[in-house]
Parts: sequence; structure tokens; C-alpha cells
Amino acid sequence: MNPDQPPICDYEGSDYQTSFWDESDRAYEDQVEALAIHRLLPESGELLLEIGAGAGRNTPRYKAYQRVVLVDYSSTQLQQAQTYLGTSDRYIYVAANAYQLPFVTGVFDGATMIRTLHHMAEPQLAIEQVRLALQPGATFILEYANKHNLKAILRYIFRQQSWSPFTPEAVEFTTLNFDFHPKSVRNWLETSGFSVERQLTVSHFRIDTLKRLFPLDMLVKLDSIAQLSGNWWQLSPSVFVLASAVGDTAIAPPGALFRCLLCDHIKLEQTDDSLICPNCHHHWNYENGIYDFRLK
Ligand SMILES: C[S@@+](CC[C@H](N)C(=O)[O-])C[C@H]1O[C@@H](n2cnc3c(N)ncnc32)[C@H](O)[C@@H]1O
Repeated sequence: MNPDQPPICDYEGSDYQTSFWDESDRAYEDQVEALAIHRLLPESGELLLEIGAGAGRNTPRYKAYQRVVLVDYSSTQLQQAQTYLGTSDRYIYVAANAYQLPFVTGVFDGATMIRTLHHMAEPQLAIEQVRLALQPGATFILEYANKHNLKAILRYIFRQQSWSPFTPEAVEFTTLNFDFHPKSVRNWLETSGFSVERQLTVSHFRIDTLKRLFPLDMLVKLDSIAQLSGNWWQLSPSVFVLASAVGDTAIAPPGALFRCLLCDHIKLEQTDDSLICPNCHHHWNYENGIYDFRLK
């Protein structure tokens, strides 16, 4: 890994989709997240950047966009996404680091980052990369894990937890898994060229006992109502933010998508097995429908 980059939470070879979603009792979390995405997604769009796409769990929810570029650091996650979503022109699969995105400035009119910021030791760096890739006016749906949640507040008050949920610094609850304070996330967005338009609080009833005692539909309906309080207070474990890209920043020339990470050249030449930079002659690997821009 490039020593100048922050550490990466590596999902290579992970069975995350199967073990965390398909074989665990997380229908509630999945449905309330789908609802939040549905509420925040614009009615239409052209090219969406999905960062930390994993196995593509959320990708079919982005129907409003004509094409989706799935970015993940793990090539095995992207292979799973490809098996799930197929190889049509609608999807472009890119193995890349969120801290170093290989795209032309101002090429996307939308971006999402769901359940991924919580792996970022340098969250603002990742948010700045998203902003660079977006056109002015583009929308960004960002989900983050909230340290200022009701459970953490109660545990802190009753001295069951040493760290304060009220202070702005991140808490690393296990290696490369961070909870963030809502004010900090807002601050990173605003100083990176975004304006926060709307917030939804999500997964209020993510408690095993509640999930066992009450029917799924009822918890989803209650969460659906509670989500709407997100602009006023954020006490849930997960928060979805709708932000829009502000400022008079560049728009990509037509047809451009990738840039060379080594020299910034934007006219890369496609061959059967690579994208070649005519400026620095670097070959970026393209294999089985997946572009590889990871700098190792
Ligand atoms: C918890 S999974 C979420 C997957 C998907 N967004 C979902 O909600 O089902 C986090 C994903 O972020 C990816 N990831 C973590 N750090 C990354 C980085 N620095 N650059 C790109 N992807 C990263 C992981 O490989 C993993 O697939």
C-alpha cells in the first residue's frame, strides 16, 4: 500500500454480503436504509459514483441514474457485485481507493457513500475526493455511523462507557471502524464544498430485543416516521445526509471519465486488458470487466 495514504479497511476475500446481510437478521436495517435512499435520491440523473459499493447491495436502488460507477478497494467485493448486477453498460466496476479517486474533475452528477465513511481514519480527505469528482449542483448521499446516538448517551450518563458522545472527535470502536459526531461530519462537508440540504436519522430500533418482539413491518413504519426528525436532532446509530456540491468548480469534458493517478492525464486509451496513459505510459489493469486503479 502507498505509505502516504491512510490505512485501508481491507475487505478482500470477505464474505461480508453473505455473513452480515444474507444470513443474519438485518432485514430491518436493510429496509430502513432503502427507504432513506429512496427519500433522498433525485428523480433523475446521468452518472452516479457509488463509493464503497461492496457487493452491490444498494446499487439496484439507484434506478434514477442512467449509469453507475461502482468503486471499491476490494476486487472480490466488485466481483460479487458483478455476479449480482451483471455486465451491462449500465455498470462500470472500478477497484480504487476512496482517498485517491481516478476520475476526471467534475464528471459525476451524483455520488453515494453508504456504510463506508465509518472505515475512514481521514474522513475529510475522502469527502474532498468525492467533491472533486462532482459537478457543481450534483447531489451526494452520505451515510455515517453516529457517535451521538441515544444508546451511547445513556451508557455514558450511567458510566457504562468512558468516551463522550458529545465531543467532536471520532471514536474508533474497533480497528478502522469509526463513529462520528454529526457536527463534525457537517463541518467536513461544508469545508469541502458541500451544502447540507437534508438529514434523515435511520435505524432507531436497531436493538435485538425490539427486533425479536415486534413485527418487521411495524419497526420499519416507526423508523420511517422517526427518520423525518433528522433535520432537528440526530440520536440514531446511522445518519443519512443529502448534500449538494456548491461553488463554481470545473465540469468534465464530454466523454472523459478516468484520469491517470500518476500524471493526471485524462485521455486514457482503452485496450482489451488495460487503460494506457499516453502521457506517462502507465498501464492501468482492466480484467474481467474491472478497472484496477489501486496503487500498491
Ligand atoms: C461495510 S461495506 C459496505 C458496502 C455497501 N456500501 C453496503 O452498504 O452494503 C464497506 C465497503 O467499503 C470498502 N472500503 C473500505 N475502505 C475503502 C477505501 N479506502 N476505498 C474504497 N473502498 C473502501 C470495503 O471494501 C467494503 O466493500
